[in-house]
Amino acid sequence: MKNDGFKPLNFVEKSEEEMIASSRKFYETVKKRRTVRDFSDRPIPDEVIKNAILAAGTAPNGANVQPWKFVVVRNQQVKSAIRKAAEAEEKKFYGERASQEWLDDLKSLGTNFSKPFLEKTPCLIVVFLESYKIDKNGEKHKTYYPSESVGLATGTLINALHSSGLGTLTYTPSPMGFLKKILKRPENERPYMVLVTGYPAENVTVPNIEKLPLEEIAVFVD
Ligand SMILES: Cc1cc2nc3c(=O)[nH]c(=O)nc-3n(C[C@H](O)[C@H](O)[C@H](O)COP(=O)(O)O)c2cc1C
Repeated sequence: MKNDGFKPLNFVEKSEEEMIASSRKFYETVKKRRTVRDFSDRPIPDEVIKNAILAAGTAPNGANVQPWKFVVVRNQQVKSAIRKAAEAEEKKFYGERASQEWLDDLKSLGTNFSKPFLEKTPCLIVVFLESYKIDKNGEKHKTYYPSESVGLATGTLINALHSSGLGTLTYTPSPMGFLKKILKRPENERPYMVLVTGYPAENVTVPNIEKLPLEEIAVFVD
């Protein structure tokens, strides 16, 4: 992306009270986000998805190259093809590939090879990472820190969808090369994750897990 000079930041300063209140409110909002694994088939507003992707696109990223592509899948046949291919990989994962330690860690989540939400949920946002960019003339250009950049954009996307009132599942079939084939993506893109997006099913439950307290995740060097 070309840098066209510099412009004012337009920083809006808040009072300390406002800062504290905003930080609390943000924490209270994101604290309510939970990974959902059972969705309703209710349609969701188009604009919510578009705004959430725009929000994801604001993420900081290496040299502002923006090495991401968000593929929104709503077509029923394509969703079914993704489910079929994903379950074929999942059967191998749960039956052969996963270590016992990994399977033990997954137990509390209650997951298995079956992924009906891939067909039922109105929207799958498949996130692709661009290993390099291809310009209009077919020339290749480097991307910088693409994994970190796409991770930050995906985190923003998840919280944007959550704060809009939708549920998400961060889904990572392994391997996930089939997504590139089914969605006919170009050679410079690799699938990064699937964000299953929709209203949670009625009365859905989530694993009763806890987040670590501040003293276990932060170190203050004053
Ligand atoms: C990189 C990544 C991959 C994940 N892959 C899967 C997955 O393939 N299937 C699944 O059911 N959950 C998956 N999850 C969701 C996690 O299990 C979930 O975030 C974690 O258990 C914490 O629960 P919470 O999101 O409700 O706080 C994934 C999460 C991340 C960040």
